[in-house]
Amino acid sequence: MVTAAHNASMSSFDAIDIHRPDLARSYLALLASQPGRPLALFAPRRVGKTWFLDHDLAAAGREAGLLPVYADLWLNRSAPLEAINHALEEALDDLAVPPGTVGRLARTPVRKIGALGASVDLGEPPRRRNLPDDPALRFDALAVRLALEHGGRVLLMLDEAQSLGEQARGADLLATLRAVLHKRQDQVEAVLTGSSQEGLARILSAVGTPMYQFAQLLTFPVLGDEFLVRLTDRFAEVHQGRAPRLDDLRGLFARIGCKPALMRDIVKVMSAEGETDPQAGLAHFMADSRQVAGWQALLNSLDAFERCVLTAVAQGLPPLGKETRARLAALPGVSPSLAKVRTALERLKRAGLLTRSGHGLALEDELLATYLGATR
Ligand SMILES: Nc1ncnc2c1ncn2[C@@H]1O[C@H](COP(=O)(O)OP(=O)(O)O)[C@@H](O)[C@H]1O
Ligand SMILES: [Mg+2]
Repeated sequence: MVTAAHNASMSSFDAIDIHRPDLARSYLALLASQPGRPLALFAPRRVGKTWFLDHDLAAAGREAGLLPVYADLWLNRSAPLEAINHALEEALDDLAVPPGTVGRLARTPVRKIGALGASVDLGEPPRRRNLPDDPALRFDALAVRLALEHGGRVLLMLDEAQSLGEQARGADLLATLRAVLHKRQDQVEAVLTGSSQEGLARILSAVGTPMYQFAQLLTFPVLGDEFLVRLTDRFAEVHQGRAPRLDDLRGLFARIGCKPALMRDIVKVMSAEGETDPQAGLAHFMADSRQVAGWQALLNSLDAFERCVLTAVAQGLPPLGKETRARLAALPGVSPSLAKVRTALERLKRAGLLTRSGHGLALEDELLATYLGATR
């Protein structure tokens, strides 16, 4: 049953945003204390890295006189340096014509009126030497030009930077990045994020020097009680004071890998059903046909071999172990060599489904792991 009250409660759960300006300022202080050296923030997927860059770090950067520039390297895996350059160029355009103004023409003074008033040339923005075409040189030139035009440092935010390591040209790219960040330390500060600790460590150590010399690797903190308190408060508002216990919510949040959007979705389901027990809420959420359909679609995008490997990992089996390979051997037309299993693991990691955790591999999505674990 969907009532107006339920609709109101849905949207108000969505409005819960947790800002962390102090965390952002602490990162900026770290950057300022070691010029030329980027920070590399690691946290699993969907815990809020991008949201933080976008809302909190960019805002704190602007407050400190920096010009934030964001590039998503995961979305541009085939051409990361071009993606960085594109972001810098957009920022340069925005400086020339701030977004929201009528347009370039409106701001450009008319320079020359023909003697008879017949020809009107609209003034061009001052032209500089063209930027180099070579992406590495272009990156360097853009960093300098942007800082100059802005009149302060650029805060370059490279999201999902571990994808740099998945490149054929990865080592060259990283060498460029490192050289520019070092040479242009008066112009640029950089924050990298990564959702694969392994991937991030790989790129940071691939630069030819130990990673601690290139970037400072930090664990990005997940949201804390503040978020959960806001959820319970909102729940109580909607349900005349009845709400899940904070302690129970803490357990659930940890259980789902501290993913705020997922947590909000589960609490919305609980609220719609008036359910205050997170265990029951989670069970309802997982049984929801949309949820199951989503997992099925994901599984269907894999081949049978990968699906079998993923399921084995979800059930806690060593992926290269005997039992896993016996299961794989049962698939029609498959010879499960170790090399084939390794390739499948690699593909599952790249797809973001598997991640290194502690000593072994684990599913990135805890709920999918539970779902697969239950459909043995
Ligand atoms: N501080 C926050 N407050 C409220 N919701 C958040 C916050 N951080 C993240 N979220 C929610 O979680 C979702 C996933 O976060 P995102 O930043 O994309 O994760 P990541 O970049 O780590 O994969 C966001 O779309 C947003 O709905
Ligand atoms: Mg992200």
